[in-house]
Amino acid sequence: MRKLTAAVLALVILMGGIAAMGEGNVTVYNSKFAESLDGWYARGSGSVSLAAPNNLHMAGRQSDWNSPGRDFAMVPGVTYGISAQVRQQQADSAHFMISVAHAANGAETYENLASGDAARDKWITLQCEYTAGQYDRFVLYAETTGATNIEFDIRNFRVTAPEGTPSMATPTAMEILEAGEMPSLKEIYADRFDFGTCVPRGQAMDGVAMAFNRRQFSILTPENELKPDAVLDVTKSRKLAAEDESAAAVRFEAAKPLLDYAKKNGLKVHGHVLVWHSQTPEAFFHEGYDSARPLVTREVMLGRLENYIRGVMEYMAANYPGGIVSWDVVNEAIDDGSGWLRNSNWMKTVGEDFVARAFELARKYAPEGTLLFYNDYNTAMTGKQNGIVRLLKSLIPEGNIDGYGFQMHHSVDFPSIGDIDRSVRRIAALGLKLRVSELDIGVPDNGEASFMKQAKMYAQIMKILDKHSDQFIAVQVWGVCDNQSWRSSSYPLLFDAKRNPKPAFWAVAQPDMFK
Ligand code: XIL
Repeated sequence: MRKLTAAVLALVILMGGIAAMGEGNVTVYNSKFAESLDGWYARGSGSVSLAAPNNLHMAGRQSDWNSPGRDFAMVPGVTYGISAQVRQQQADSAHFMISVAHAANGAETYENLASGDAARDKWITLQCEYTAGQYDRFVLYAETTGATNIEFDIRNFRVTAPEGTPSMATPTAMEILEAGEMPSLKEIYADRFDFGTCVPRGQAMDGVAMAFNRRQFSILTPENELKPDAVLDVTKSRKLAAEDESAAAVRFEAAKPLLDYAKKNGLKVHGHVLVWHSQTPEAFFHEGYDSARPLVTREVMLGRLENYIRGVMEYMAANYPGGIVSWDVVNEAIDDGSGWLRNSNWMKTVGEDFVARAFELARKYAPEGTLLFYNDYNTAMTGKQNGIVRLLKSLIPEGNIDGYGFQMHHSVDFPSIGDIDRSVRRIAALGLKLRVSELDIGVPDNGEASFMKQAKMYAQIMKILDKHSDQFIAVQVWGVCDNQSWRSSSYPLLFDAKRNPKPAFWAVAQPDMFK
């Protein structure tokens, strides 16, 4: 009997030992520090940032407790295993601790859970167990004592707990999408046309944002990074011009993050834009690439245009073969008031046929199969529309234009759905391929009533496009989240600042639900 008790006791002790080592436990949190800060923040002074590979860097500390910390939804009574690696590169040695700040009814108290000394440049592992007390908030953090101001890194912050304990990981946007209720617009429209968006450079480097974009969109456009002011290398062109006035040097650093992402993830890219009066360096049009000197002759400008387009197409073919499926060759050539060609630097140097020449050169150098578009706004307004139709009709016989892009920067009360419908029908009748290149619909405020009106207009537009889905090859919104829109004060897009779908998103996903 006594023997049995001893055996049971031994087993209990053994099991206790196993539990203490964390065996049979599952990981309920594991820091990645790859795509986002994942809820980690600087406690008190200082700041946290991601540092490659997979470290979180803490800088700007003023006190011992200024530290990288994160809220953990721990369950009172559960015993957690906690481990993390820390490193510092500023002192001969520093004393590190993992601590918990816990609060009950707003009153915060602290416990130091693990500690260790780290010599300069050496990663050390801190490890401990912690049974969560009766608190309603838990913040785990890594701090140093003594060496107050040093910066340091943490990585592999891992928490384990008995099976069945809720995970404390923050789901990525992708995980939310995959597990959740949010449909994918590119999937909904896959059998009709590509659904896409523009992406600014900063977003193209944000892994979480791009994971979200990859799920929603099948085609992307760099918002500003393929415009002439990003692509034309004026300094280099000026040097080349000393020998050859018609030279044009190009560069692609700005567009690279998006082009690389699209290539890696099998997404299409629509290029915007080769020829435009706006966002184009003034020097492009002047002798010696010097804005103080006179405009160049038609012959020189046509030479520059050819070298520019050739440079763009050659670079893309060499680095992103098949990546850019279509281009806006010319943007916004028609004047709003007169409906005739705008009196731009292109008109002043090349003259009226600059649009036709641009298409001819784009056709000459673009890889076979690349679709070439003329892109413009206010297509629903009669005067402008007449000008656009006149221009398209003059281009079609030469065979170098494939389609028309409707920008569609609208507002809830302008233009009318009837006018939009008529403009789409009129342009479609020309037989071209069509795109919506820059859809957004502004509202006066971010109240529910405005968002419902906005949703209705999105739905009505999608229904119009649907009727011509044999001609539309792509529909692109001009941005993802309202706060990042070029018209952010009019909340014109499908998602709010946190990427939550707005009524407008559901309207695009299910237009028939919005009468
Ligand atoms: C806008 C961008 O969204 C802004 O970031 C930039 O500051 C200005 O240009 N028509 C076009 C787009 O063809 O290139 C414009 O994009 C919006 C209007």
